[in-house]
Amino acid sequence: MIDPALEERLEHAAKETLARNDRGSHTVPHEGNYPHQWLWDSAFTAIGLSHLDPERAATEIQTLLRGQWHNGMVPHQLFTKKQPGQLLPNIDYLFWDSQRSPHAPEKLKTSGITQPPVLAEGAMHVARKLDADDRQGFMSEVVPKLVKYHEWIYRERDFGGNNLMTVVHPYESGMDNSPPWTEQLRGKERAVYALGGIAGNLIKPFRRDLKEMDESERSSSADGAACFTSGYKLRKLRYDWEGVRADDETMQIEDVAVNSILARNNVILHELAAEAGLELPATLSTKMAWSISALDQLWDEETQMYYSRDVRTNKLIKRPTVASLLPIYSGLSTERAKAVVDSLTNPDHFWAEHPVPTIPISSPDFNERNFWCGPTWINMNWLILNGLRRASEDNIADDLSENTLRTLDGMQMPEHYSALTGKPLGVKNFSWTAALTIDLLKNRP
Ligand code: GLC
Repeated sequence: MIDPALEERLEHAAKETLARNDRGSHTVPHEGNYPHQWLWDSAFTAIGLSHLDPERAATEIQTLLRGQWHNGMVPHQLFTKKQPGQLLPNIDYLFWDSQRSPHAPEKLKTSGITQPPVLAEGAMHVARKLDADDRQGFMSEVVPKLVKYHEWIYRERDFGGNNLMTVVHPYESGMDNSPPWTEQLRGKERAVYALGGIAGNLIKPFRRDLKEMDESERSSSADGAACFTSGYKLRKLRYDWEGVRADDETMQIEDVAVNSILARNNVILHELAAEAGLELPATLSTKMAWSISALDQLWDEETQMYYSRDVRTNKLIKRPTVASLLPIYSGLSTERAKAVVDSLTNPDHFWAEHPVPTIPISSPDFNERNFWCGPTWINMNWLILNGLRRASEDNIADDLSENTLRTLDGMQMPEHYSALTGKPLGVKNFSWTAALTIDLLKNRP
């Protein structure tokens, strides 16, 4: 049981973090390290904000959608030039140079790639909390944009023609240095790795994150440099996805987490559209209806697990990560849900002292402190919890929710934490940790 004093402490800390990172029209994930607006961060932040200030939560989603490209893509970052108190303007936008694409918005600087499509979920939470008038206005503005986004996903990003979204950069998965992605990077960006430490050392002085954290908690500089060169390839191709698809040098992965999120968000979008009285385009509707069963292609009978798949080789990348559990969020058959739950609750795999680690603790890939290679992230817990509840696994969901909230007590809303000891890792005052803490508190049994 979470006692009222603990609840009060957590809520207070969470509100403080959200207030600190609030920039009026949007929330930055963290004031020092992440000074822009990010797609899935804002969706999670809106879920938490919807309990505190539904109108402000609506603005979070609306601001993000202002960055939508003409072709429908919602970019993963909307750039801010200056933070309060900052002397020199931020030039991160120069890297993506979105204006190279004719589809990019003219007046805003954005990245050229997207992130896990969890926006319908965010919008639904916000809509539920708005009063009737505001809700109508919000829905009529936002739902058509979400439809356009999902249309873009199927039209331009189903490279394999499998009803699965192809992801072309580690940042699009949201799990920057997750081992299956690093494996892909190493295969594609050989020159960077062949240079040994040189490429990594070149980018080190520009790494904002290392000013606050030790490299042992972050992507290595070599992997960071490889992310840079692989992003540069997309930029050179002007974010023309047909061109990217035809280019053998690009990464093309049917990421299991992204596609699980897409499948669930299709269901939500379907409901939102019905409520808004909007008829979905027929092609989209058909694709959406197949999206949960499309995940079957990512199932491996031998290990009883889901994995991401390389579009070119059509082979599963059999390195288990927390992404392997996310199909539970999409909704699964009883048999498949049981397999996921068995892996989740296996103490050698994911049921660590402070679950859910991003890598099974018995895996050679597990690294207690390193970013997406081991630590527990609350957005993953939230998605898994959401799926567990819909699969009627309430006891496990309650345990996970309580463990997460207890672990977060007194930690100043860290970015992630050790699954073994519960020690905070990454930056403090991280927005989605705060926002989802509020949602977990409000949704306790
Ligand atoms: C890191 C995370 C990514 C997140 C971003 C902003 O790059 O890997 O998922 O969206 O930070 O918080």
